[in-house]
Order: sequence, then C-alpha cells, then structure tokens
Amino acid sequence: MQGKLTILEQRELAANIFEMTLTGRLVRKMTTSGQFLNIKIPQNELLLRRPISLHEINHEDETCKIIYRIEGSGTQILSTMAAGAVLDALGPLGNGFDISEIKANEEVLIVGGGIGTPPLYQLAREVKRKGAKVTVVLGFASKAVSFHIDKFKALGDVLVSTDDGSLGSMGHVGLVIDKLLKTQQFDAVYACGAKGLLKYVDERFRAHPRAYISVEARMACGIGACYACVCPVYGDNTGTQTLKVCDQGPIFATGKVVLV
Ligand SMILES: Cc1cc2nc3c(=O)[nH]c(=O)nc-3n(C[C@H](O)[C@H](O)[C@H](O)COP(=O)(O)OP(=O)(O)OC[C@H]3O[C@@H](n4cnc5c(N)ncnc54)[C@H](O)[C@@H]3O)c2cc1C
Ligand code: FES
Repeated sequence: MQGKLTILEQRELAANIFEMTLTGRLVRKMTTSGQFLNIKIPQNELLLRRPISLHEINHEDETCKIIYRIEGSGTQILSTMAAGAVLDALGPLGNGFDISEIKANEEVLIVGGGIGTPPLYQLAREVKRKGAKVTVVLGFASKAVSFHIDKFKALGDVLVSTDDGSLGSMGHVGLVIDKLLKTQQFDAVYACGAKGLLKYVDERFRAHPRAYISVEARMACGIGACYACVCPVYGDNTGTQTLKVCDQGPIFATGKVVLV
C-alpha cells in the first residue's frame, strides 16, 4: 500500500541517529514487527525509495515510529525534515517476525546491534504481550551511539555490550550470549544487526527450530518485482537459488540464506 505519513516529531537520539514519529491511515495496516516502510525521499534526483524498519506501531493514536542513521544523501535529507512535513511511503512491506508459536512463559532471546535494534522494540512488546519472558542483548559501538536501552528494560532483562567497553561489557554481543547460554535455554531467538552479529546468530542457532535473523540488502522496488535484493540460499550447490529479501524476507530462519 502507498500512503502519506505526516511527521509529528523528529528528534536526534544520538549523533546522526534520528527518531521520527509519523501519523496517517497507513498505520492501520501495520500489524507485524520486523516489517518496513519504503520511503520516497523528497528530492527528484533520488529515485529509489529508502527502506526503514518500523520501530513502534501504536494503533490507539494512529502513530508509528522509525529510527534511522544518516548513511548518505537520502537519510541526510530525512534528517532535515520537520514536524508537519509529509512522507510518501510504501508499506508495510516484508514478512515481519513470526511470533505465532510464542506461548506464555516461554523464554525469548532478542539480539540487536546498533541501528539494527529499532525493529526489535516492537517485537519485544508483542512477545511480552503474549506473556513470554524477554531477554534482550544489545550491542553498540560505544555508549555515545547507544539509545533506548531503558525502553527495552521496561520489557525484560537487558544485557548491553559495547565495542570499546564504555557501556556494559566490552566486546561483541556473541560473548554475552555465549555466557548466557551456559545457564539458560531459549524457546525462540530473534536477531537484527550488522552482518557479523547475524553470522554469529545464524551459526550459533543453526539447529534451533525457532531462530530468526533480519537480513539487509540494497533494494529498489521493495515489493518483489525487480530482483535487486536477492540473496543466495544456503546449501544450494547449483548457485542458482535465491530468495528476495524485500518480500520473502527480510526475516529468515537461521540456516536459510547465505550472508554475503
Ligand atoms: C529491510 C531494511 C530495513 C532497514 N531498516 C533500517 C532502519 O530501521 N534504520 C536505518 O537507519 N537503516 C535501515 N536500513 C538501511 C537503510 O535503508 C539505508 O541506510 C538507507 O537506504 C541509506 O540511504 P541513503 O540515501 O542515506 O544512503 P545511500 O547514499 O543510498 O548509501 C550510503 C551508504 O550506505 C550503504 N547502504 C545503503 N543502503 C543499504 C542497505 N540496505 N544495506 C546495507 N548498506 C546500505 C551504501 O552501500 C553506502 O555505502 C534498512 C534496510 C533494509 C533493507
Ligand atoms: S527490491 Fe525489488 S525485488 Fe526486492
């Protein structure tokens, strides 16, 4: 669906990381965490829409939130837009996180890294609403670029690591998870973040029946028509099988796609 979303608020959460609160009828269609909007950048030279995940969905007041980091010209332009401006968005797109099998009292592990953490907040909310117990492991480059840790703390146990040790334990989230797994088991696992984090989760939970990763790819149409976003299928010796990240993903079970 294509729709207009009006910016209610835009604020900088950390250096070059912005949160936008949006409102519009399109919010009524947003039902699944892990889905994304493909946003038209209001500048004629930038033809391709930019995919940004849904961070929060609030049907009560018909708002949603997105969080993005400035990477290039598209996100730079987004960061200059103020309340009252209107965005043209396609969405919600993608399959979203599958939480259909989550039951009350199950243990759920949610793993996020940096700018991959935003969609996990809506996921954690939905999982908690189902009565499951949420453990969140968040990794950031440093304290200076960390954000919304307290929001996650309101939903469950939160463990934080930073590359430089300025917040939480020092090092990769994998170290935190390895330690956690010595004493705890999880019924379901969900991850979103940089390729290194996804590779760790993909390998560590390869045999887990309910472990999922959210994969990123450069996108064009965002709706399955152009094949710009394909990724190879794990175990395909012919090298011909691919899956489209935009409409068959971005969430895949571990062991499904090759992270290139
Ligand atoms: C399903 C999905 C959900 C996403 N959700 C978020 C989100 O919630 N918050 C957020 O900040 N970003 C998110 N991204 C990444 C975001 O789409 C890109 O950062 C954005 O499109 C960059 O646009 P730009 O015009 O600013 O930069 P460009 O000028 O297009 O690119 C700048 C740099 O970023 C790299 N880049 C651009 N797009 C991607 C991409 N998709 N994957 C990897 N590298 C890329 C380019 O290679 C280049 O080096 C998501 C991407 C996908 C596919
Ligand atoms: S972006 Fe066009 S098929 Fe995925």
